Amino acid sequence: MSAAPAGKVADKLGVLVSGGGTNLQSIIDNIHFGSCHAGIACVVSNVAGAHALTRAARAGIPHYAIPHTDYKNRNAFESALIKVFNRHAVNSVILAGFMRVLEAAFIDRYAGRILNIHPSLLPKYPGLNTHQRAIEQRDQQHGCSVHFASIELDGGPLILQASVPVLANDNAATLARRVSAKEHIIYPLCIQWLCEGRLDYQDGAAYFNGKALEEPLQLEKITCETT
Ligand code: GRF
Repeated sequence: MSAAPAGKVADKLGVLVSGGGTNLQSIIDNIHFGSCHAGIACVVSNVAGAHALTRAARAGIPHYAIPHTDYKNRNAFESALIKVFNRHAVNSVILAGFMRVLEAAFIDRYAGRILNIHPSLLPKYPGLNTHQRAIEQRDQQHGCSVHFASIELDGGPLILQASVPVLANDNAATLARRVSAKEHIIYPLCIQWLCEGRLDYQDGAAYFNGKALEEPLQLEKITCETT
């Protein structure tokens, strides 16, 4: 991966999490080893005991538990998130296993600077239980997708996908492990692109290197020329 263009300030990421935080860890590791030129300004979880917060703590990253249950509605909860993000000058939001739907006002505020990762080859299987659904549908291929977040759940314009085979003896857990390994590759890569200014979002479409993406990029087909 190439270094960020000279003069470009690496982004200040605000990472939203709810669970184990393996994607957060992959971002932390890629930043640490120099393959992702971003900075995590803070990590916020709506779940107080989320292991992702422990990962942030270990990495010395400011982290906060902001339980959504403490707020009277979504807007009040999201205002609290924005307050923390503003305090840390966050300019890009990374949804890394954040299990809350976000309101339009929040999405609009970070338009073109808010990414999500989802464990399926979208538009297949938005929502939950994606691995089980892929097995039940006897899919031969399954995978994960990074996309710009929009107000539609798992519905924003797609950027990059990675595929894995569904094996005859797979169950949801074994398939999830294979997909998860791919997530840990494609999310830091997309974040790097975002920080380099190579990703854009206009009129509901994703752009990569200035060109509208008619279809998501596929990890397996990415070459030095693509990147
Ligand atoms: C991942 O499968 C991601 O695609 C989805 O939530 C899960 C988060 O896992 N949005 P982790 O907390 O990063 O381990």
